[in-house]
Amino acid sequence: MTLIDPALLKTRLGVLAGRFDVDSLAECDSTSSELLRRAERGAPAGTVIVADQQSAGRGRRGRQWFSAPEAGLTFSLLWRFNGPASQLAGLSLAVGVGLARGLEGLGAQGVCLKWPNDILLRQGDGFAKLAGILIELASDRRGTQVVIGIGINLQKPAGDLPQPAAGLNQAFDVLPERHELLAAVLVAVGEALESVTVDGFFGLKNEWQVRHAWQDQPVQLLADEATPLLGICLGVDNDGALLLETESGIQRILSGDVSLRRIASTPEVRRL
Ligand code: BTN
Repeated sequence: MTLIDPALLKTRLGVLAGRFDVDSLAECDSTSSELLRRAERGAPAGTVIVADQQSAGRGRRGRQWFSAPEAGLTFSLLWRFNGPASQLAGLSLAVGVGLARGLEGLGAQGVCLKWPNDILLRQGDGFAKLAGILIELASDRRGTQVVIGIGINLQKPAGDLPQPAAGLNQAFDVLPERHELLAAVLVAVGEALESVTVDGFFGLKNEWQVRHAWQDQPVQLLADEATPLLGICLGVDNDGALLLETESGIQRILSGDVSLRRIASTPEVRRL
């Protein structure tokens, strides 16, 4: 498969071409690591690195992200905000809304969101992971720099995986061409980021909630050291915190450093 061609991508970005500065690499360790290095050297907001292959792709919670060159779209986008990171509550959820909007705009069916920032594909009664988002923030006196790494499975990944996985080709009759796909996603994620600048996550909350895969479903929340927390997933609040109805009342989960599993049986939760 040939690499993403930045000139061709510009034609797909249309009037927004000037907002993004895209570099396409055959291989790198991780598009996010490479972008972090370039950000340190002063790369402008809107810089995008897309790589055909990553030798050390990174996922959330220290996991690795594997994708075969022909079977995935892996890229990172640099953005900057004027305020501190504390004003960016819900940012990762906003990126999920942007990504879902971009895919749906091309005609994808069955795209759903899972807190804090997984993109799932509805498959019958269940869901399989379609894409992952890794957000890395750094703040200083001038504001907050955000590196947004996105990995989309174009084909269903092969092999043993910790959770069911899907390919974007399963969401379309005919999978869109990769330049068209990347352009649509960049534009939609860019719009979501602008919306966060103006309204915070609040302006996107309803859109997130409408696509929420596990709304009102029993879930188990796993943090590294704690015992799993069982509850009913009530969705998110205006700051993007997960609302979990547990035995001891509604808990507001802020940390993204947890993993969420749907469970088959309804836990004992007293409805308030
Ligand atoms: C996750 O679901 O754990 C997040 C996965 C994020 C993977 C993408 S691929 C492009 C970018 N570069 C990386 O090393 N990671 C992100």
